[in-house]
Amino acid sequence: MQAINNIVILTGAGISAESGIATFRGPDGLWEGQRVEDVATPEAFMRDPALVQTFYDQRRAALTAVEPNAAHHALALLDKKWSGDFLLVTQNVDDLHDRAAADMGIDGRLLHMHGQLRSAWCLNCDKRSEWTDDLSGAPACPQCGQSGFMRPDIVWFGEMPYAMRAIETALAKCDLFVSIGTSGAVYPAAGFVQTARRYGAQTLELNLDVSNGSNQFDETRQGPATVLVPAWVESLLAA
Ligand code: OAD
Repeated sequence: MQAINNIVILTGAGISAESGIATFRGPDGLWEGQRVEDVATPEAFMRDPALVQTFYDQRRAALTAVEPNAAHHALALLDKKWSGDFLLVTQNVDDLHDRAAADMGIDGRLLHMHGQLRSAWCLNCDKRSEWTDDLSGAPACPQCGQSGFMRPDIVWFGEMPYAMRAIETALAKCDLFVSIGTSGAVYPAAGFVQTARRYGAQTLELNLDVSNGSNQFDETRQGPATVLVPAWVESLLAA
């Protein structure tokens, strides 16, 4: 087995499930009672901005009732202790990885490739602002002062995920790629395992059940993230 110096980890909704945040692809095919295309596309926002703002306002408000779980904390511990390159790429728009890193006293090596609920994007001045309140009601942008231009800083279907260049550079250098709690249904994230393999990395999947991409990994382990992730981190740090 080759030595592991550089690690890239991809997380999805499954890592936050045990904190009480719903995953996207539940058995009813709905996300928090909505069809994804009614709330998570630029077309939906143009068609019915009030519905979309209210939907994300509710998701943002719900963050105050949840806490990082043992899986978030284990990854923050790994980030703190790992002396090689480390990059945690999350598809999640919650702030649970950020809070776990803060609990660990570190500025996490973390990228939110699908945006963040606690960020707002002004379509007038193109600046992002930290945002914890509602966006309904056309609040003014704190940077340009104009009202009615703020949208959730979320990458919707049909939009380009953030930080792709940095992610691809890290994937090309990594010795180990680990995917945690994601169904492998949404590209480009679902293709990261192939990129990492192409550059020679070992690949590991930790997921509750078999995902769309399970057969592309060298190894897959099935179970809840709060059990699998702390055990994997402990064994990696002990090795
Ligand atoms: P999904 O809802 O598609 O998949 C969540 C995965 O987590 C599934 O494979 C579950 O089996 C697994 N899972 C559930 N509970 C778990 C647990 N306790 N421990 C471990 N695994 C668990 O969510 P994502 O793959 O994150 O994009 O979805 C990807 C993207 O699709 C999202 O970022 C979002 C969505 O549309 C945008 O909003 C742009």
